Amino acid sequence: MKRDLCSVRDFSPKEIETLIELAQKLKEQTGSGITHSPLQGKTLVLLFCKPSTRTRISFEVGMYQLGGQSLYLNYTDTHLGRGESLADTARVLSRYVQGIVLRTYAHQDLVELARTADIPLINGLTDLLHPCQILADLLTIKEKFHKIKGVRIVYIGDGNNIANSWLMAAGHLGLKLRLAIPEGYLPDPEIVKFARTQAPKYGGEIEFYHDPWRAVQGAQVLYTDVWTSMGQEEEVLSREKAFQNYQISAQLLAQAAPDAIVMHCLPAHRGEEIAGEVLENKRSVVFDQAENRLHIQKAILNFLLAPQNLP
Ligand code: CP
Ligand code: NVA
Repeated sequence: MKRDLCSVRDFSPKEIETLIELAQKLKEQTGSGITHSPLQGKTLVLLFCKPSTRTRISFEVGMYQLGGQSLYLNYTDTHLGRGESLADTARVLSRYVQGIVLRTYAHQDLVELARTADIPLINGLTDLLHPCQILADLLTIKEKFHKIKGVRIVYIGDGNNIANSWLMAAGHLGLKLRLAIPEGYLPDPEIVKFARTQAPKYGGEIEFYHDPWRAVQGAQVLYTDVWTSMGQEEEVLSREKAFQNYQISAQLLAQAAPDAIVMHCLPAHRGEEIAGEVLENKRSVVFDQAENRLHIQKAILNFLLAPQNLP
């Protein structure tokens, strides 16, 4: 029975713990001369209709390091760009390759591909969710605080795919999460409901604020993302206005806990959601996050494509 990663909820909390430990092990092995090639002879297709730097490169390099190969396809390079259905594409790909990473707009397209493909499907970002990013971020938080549960995480900015993914993880794992988001840009209501009902059952807390200055009191993680996501380019001006008080500035960071770290999934827009001096501050771990995409995704690929061959 094939397994997919459409949302962090596709893995149990125990499996997420195992994945993070596996990623740490693979990270330690990097450059040590130890080779682990569980994906020899396997091909991963990256099917993308939005741009990407981190997701594309870390998946391609990860496949190579695990002994497999990858194939990048933009929608427009395939017959998807000329109207062939996702379902037919999924069935054809299932005859050639052993896994798919999809980056697209509508989350429903991911669900449709998962339903129709016979091979594991990984969500490489939709308008709704970006689970690979949050799993890499959990690894980064564990490296910095030696734990995940109980760490006070504060997300500031747009209620987008990253905010939704944090809520999903917080509900699923019982995390302490505050969100400072302006009215009109709130996250997906179903995901908010899930997080609010589930998080307290597992020791977590979900709190919403409109005022970032109140939200960051005692924060150990300050997290932000772009104000305008891919596909929303025509809203740039109205978004700049709506989010002008939601920048992670040096002054805002000063209100957080003394051991606070600053996180951003990247790409960053210095001077908008984050001040340049904060991004460059020693408390910023944004490039560790980017690196950890590689390690966690190698663990995900090993787990989904060759579960019988874990190190
Ligand atoms: N954070 C992230 O997913 O980056 P890319 O859009 O560059 O893949
Ligand atoms: N919210 C951003 C994340 C980019 C990694 C976007 O969807 O464009």
